[in-house]
Amino acid sequence: MATVRPRRLLLNVGRTIHEGLWQGHGTRGLASGVGSQGRGPPIGSKPAVEGVQSIIAVASGKGGVGKSTTAVNLAVALAVECRLRVGLLDADVYGPSIPSLMKLQGRPQLDSASRMIPMENYGVKCMSMGFLMEKDAPAVWRGPMVMSALEKLVRGVGWGKLDVMVVDMPPGTGDAQISISQRLPLAGAVIVSTPQDIALIDARRGANMFRKVDVPILGLIENMSFFKCPKCGERCDVFGHGGAQTTAQEMDMEFLGEVPLNIAIRETSDAGSPIVAASPSSEVAMVYKAIAVRLAAKLQDWTSSGAGAGPKITVQ
Ligand SMILES: Nc1ncnc2c1ncn2[C@@H]1O[C@H](COP(=O)(O)OP(=O)(O)O)[C@@H](O)[C@H]1O
Ligand SMILES: [Mg+2]
Repeated sequence: MATVRPRRLLLNVGRTIHEGLWQGHGTRGLASGVGSQGRGPPIGSKPAVEGVQSIIAVASGKGGVGKSTTAVNLAVALAVECRLRVGLLDADVYGPSIPSLMKLQGRPQLDSASRMIPMENYGVKCMSMGFLMEKDAPAVWRGPMVMSALEKLVRGVGWGKLDVMVVDMPPGTGDAQISISQRLPLAGAVIVSTPQDIALIDARRGANMFRKVDVPILGLIENMSFFKCPKCGERCDVFGHGGAQTTAQEMDMEFLGEVPLNIAIRETSDAGSPIVAASPSSEVAMVYKAIAVRLAAKLQDWTSSGAGAGPKITVQ
């Protein structure tokens, strides 16, 4: 297995980003491909990612609603509970958080085909721009560079055989999100929202974006749903209640579950040990696991319908 020094790797990635620009992988072309004659790949022509059976995006229209926390815990639950081979792609190149959430650091090594080897923890193979940037360095790239960087993070990686890749999407519904949805053969998207109206408006926007580019919505998760007092056990609906379920119904999306606002979720996230791994039999871990089992079943249906890229997923 060939290895390179970190500095060299950074330079290589930088060069590829610029090559991407020269090859015309620009944001404008990709984004304008939505229902138009843009230069980006047309809808439906999404090349498979080698070795990866199915890809799901974890998204929201908004930042700070718990996308990354949800993506990480679902990925670990899909690996541990459903015994699937799981990858986790951090597509938030401006604010990568997978390295700290998964307690991973250092630079990826390269395999003999010069592909980056994903970093692994809790049974999940991870790739993030955070592995390639200096800590605290801002990503000051313009749109086209972001697209090329993402391309490198997906297809410049030796993922091996994966049953499912979970993509932690960047917040919003801009160029980056649209191009990811167009370039990756997504089996579906999971929308995360908090219960307030203002977050749900953005969640609707996010869901509509996926629908526009023909990506099925696998369901809606309400995060920070309620707070259960650790002392007296009383439930408090800090951000209101029921809004996400109503939104899911109105938009014909499956409601996948309620994840409470829970101190242990925040603490374990900060410590880089997702609660599903740190405290697998806790009430909260059970919620994530139940959602993961539901998602795995949906993916199983998806692959049995022949839409997947490889052999059938079997949940054990
Ligand atoms: N259910 C939850 N309970 C408590 N804290 C949460 C929960 N979900 C997320 N958080 C915390 O909220 C903050 C934002 O979450 P994050 O996953 O980074 O959001 P996003 O990826 O949408 O920006 C983090 O500090 C995280 O630990
Ligand atoms: Mg995030």
